[in-house]
Amino acid sequence: MIRRPAAHELDAVLEIDEASFSWKMSPAERARAAESIEAGVVRVAELDGELVGVLGASSAEMTCPGGALARAVAVSNVAVLPTHRRRGVMSAMLAHLFDEVHGSGSALVVLYASEGGIYGRFGFAPASFAATYRLERDAARLRPIGTGQPAVRLLRPGEAAEALPAVFDLARRQRAGELERSPGGWAALLEEPAGPVARFVAAAILAGEVAGYVIYEVVAQAPASRVRPEEAVADRLLRLVELVALDEGAYRALWSYLLDIDLVGALVTGPRPLDEPLRFLLEDPRALEVRRLEDHTWLRLLDVHRALCERRYRAAGSLVIEISDGHCPWNAGRIALVVDPSGQASVAPSAAPPDLVCGIAGLAAGYLGATSWRTLVRAGAVTAASAASLARADLLFGTAEQPFCTPGF
Ligand SMILES: CC(C)(COP(=O)(O)OP(=O)(O)OC[C@H]1O[C@@H](n2cnc3c(N)ncnc32)[C@H](O)[C@@H]1OP(=O)(O)O)[C@@H](O)C(=O)NCCC(=O)NCCS
Repeated sequence: MIRRPAAHELDAVLEIDEASFSWKMSPAERARAAESIEAGVVRVAELDGELVGVLGASSAEMTCPGGALARAVAVSNVAVLPTHRRRGVMSAMLAHLFDEVHGSGSALVVLYASEGGIYGRFGFAPASFAATYRLERDAARLRPIGTGQPAVRLLRPGEAAEALPAVFDLARRQRAGELERSPGGWAALLEEPAGPVARFVAAAILAGEVAGYVIYEVVAQAPASRVRPEEAVADRLLRLVELVALDEGAYRALWSYLLDIDLVGALVTGPRPLDEPLRFLLEDPRALEVRRLEDHTWLRLLDVHRALCERRYRAAGSLVIEISDGHCPWNAGRIALVVDPSGQASVAPSAAPPDLVCGIAGLAAGYLGATSWRTLVRAGAVTAASAASLARADLLFGTAEQPFCTPGF
């Protein structure tokens, strides 16, 4: 049976989480889990009177290509007790969620996958990608960024909690794939880190307004006793937690600030968009080293008609798409997507020959514009009727920027 847990089942829920991910929750995380249960975000799977699985699902606004905003369901903490794996518990929780969400006003389900092999079978596909970067401080010099840039000022914790959410809320509307961040998400992000980590928040300010911010930490990599004095600086790492800018001036000013910070050997980032403009700000573009490139958010379209109407398109035109969907049969069939000159689409059933034939995961992979239809055709995830159909599909769905999602959830 899949159901919402009661408040008194918090410990059982946390036990599943901790045993499944092999971690221990901090008191702050326990408190946030209790809030999630109270808010109705958590579902549990009960088997023979015992809780064996857990799944979080909360509603959040997602930015679609063209800047349109849509409701999405953000799935988190999918976990099944190690003693009850591979018996269909996760499958049952997802099937229950799909039925619950279908018809509820959200056409999109989004998650971060712990492993790449889990979610494709349920119709999810990687819909945005992320890179983590490293810059050796001595090698990373910016080209002159010009005058009239915003000033950068350090913020105290209270100031950060007040200023950052509004800036992020504006910024997240500018890129497809971004989700709004919940109050709990802000609390987790701005929480003082544990251990000997120095964390700072700085803001780019122009004409008295915050136009962007950066959250970063400086950590020593090796224990102090093992570092020779002459290596102390090289050992210190600046970790970029989040950089959000509302415009180019703020973006350049924040990177200029970060790369000017003394007494660090290198700077490493968390997940960032693939099309990070920083590369073109550097005197030597190779100074921006890609450490890791991986799938970021995975997307599942639960209502194809609605999802296709929620995003905007780059040109007027039409496309007939035949879709198969083993888990959500209401999505299967042939549709005509007709885009008007303003980039808005209408969708209706069609009997015309299809331009594209794909499974629901193929459609999810192309939805936010991270991957072209050409690439998906080459991978065998989509079939195109002709070169002209494929070119039209890429013209319609293409986006100028790579999609991304800043908040973790
Ligand atoms: C991932 C997890 C939730 C799967 O739960 P589960 O109840 O064992 O999953 P199911 O029995 O419903 O499996 C459904 C299918 O997915 C496959 N599958 C499950 N976990 C998988 C994994 N990690 N990698 C590849 N395939 C996986 C199963 O083999 C099964 O395949 P089948 O349909 O061909 O038989 C569970 O293993 C777990 O808690 N893992 C640790 C925490 C974690 O990584 N959670 C995911 C967070 S995004």
